[in-house]
Amino acid sequence: MKIGNLELSGKTILAPLAGITNLPFRIMAKECGCALVCSEMVSAKGIVYNSEKTLNLLDSKEEEKPLSVQIFGSCPDSMQKAALFIQEQGKADIIDINFGCSVKKVVKTGAGVALMKDFENAKNVLTAVRSAIELPLTIKIRSGWDSSGFQAFKIAEIAERCGVNGIVLHPRTAGQGFKGKADWSLIARLKEKVSIPVIGNGDIQNAEQGLLMLKETGCDAIMIGRAALKNPFIFSQIQALVEKRKCNEVSADDMFNVMKKLVKYYSEYYDDKHASRMLRGRLAWFIKGLPGAGIFRKKLSQINSCAQAIELIQEFSESTVSRGYSVLS
Ligand SMILES: Cc1cc2nc3c(=O)[nH]c(=O)nc-3n(C[C@H](O)[C@H](O)[C@H](O)COP(=O)(O)O)c2cc1C
Repeated sequence: MKIGNLELSGKTILAPLAGITNLPFRIMAKECGCALVCSEMVSAKGIVYNSEKTLNLLDSKEEEKPLSVQIFGSCPDSMQKAALFIQEQGKADIIDINFGCSVKKVVKTGAGVALMKDFENAKNVLTAVRSAIELPLTIKIRSGWDSSGFQAFKIAEIAERCGVNGIVLHPRTAGQGFKGKADWSLIARLKEKVSIPVIGNGDIQNAEQGLLMLKETGCDAIMIGRAALKNPFIFSQIQALVEKRKCNEVSADDMFNVMKKLVKYYSEYYDDKHASRMLRGRLAWFIKGLPGAGIFRKKLSQINSCAQAIELIQEFSESTVSRGYSVLS
């Protein structure tokens, strides 16, 4: 599977998740077998105006590579400048443009999913970015503003003509947000319409469903978001199924080890207080459904340091083992 000239080692891609797919999370996903990780969406204007907070989102490390950095905006000039900056600073292996964000604050500026109904500006943005960078360029789109898929197909056609190297489709409408079901049949139809790689996304909850999306839609790779928050091993599990190997179950120990790793990566990247605040929510996802998870979550909400997080994981793992819980379903 190639996106432009970039060869991917597998079929699974970590979705961009604002506030979540930061550097520590991406390194963890990569270690769990993900073939391509994506940054959270980064404001093109923020880059152009040198906002420190925005530029921090571009931090990356060699061990997470290849990395796709997603930018959002609606002004062709700032999108071009931002993409060029990312390329010149060696921050990314792929640049992705957000055509899917349906948050009001973003849509009202003409960015995100607003670009899906402004074909002219979509073309201007893509032409501006494409002409400035050599890096592979992808776009991440929704179905559009209605469920027919018309806008997705139209934007895909424009993108292909502009020299875009791949399209991620999350087949929900702008109005759906994350409600209802992703309509995978649109991924299959898009695959028939374009000759560049199509990456399917939406509602993959486990490894079997990942394989199913690949088979049902014929897409070239799959992108996983929310399921990776509960089970980061989903990437290696899917790849095993793709290669017709056994899909290993995730043991409780695997999960506790990956939680400890995530704490370590957070502690290396953020200061202790900030890291522990962020981890309060993050760590709770992994143990959803395990006996005693409620108590763990409550204690987690009070941690003030990474050392406390590690202690708590240890305490929880011992109590889980003592209850004979070894494999997560
Ligand atoms: C908390 C959250 C943050 C998200 N942030 C972004 C983002 O920054 N850029 C983007 O293109 N999509 C974003 N999405 C959408 C996801 O990338 C993905 O398309 C969606 O969650 C469907 O995939 P899933 O069912 O595998 O989660 C976000 C979704 C969630 C739940």
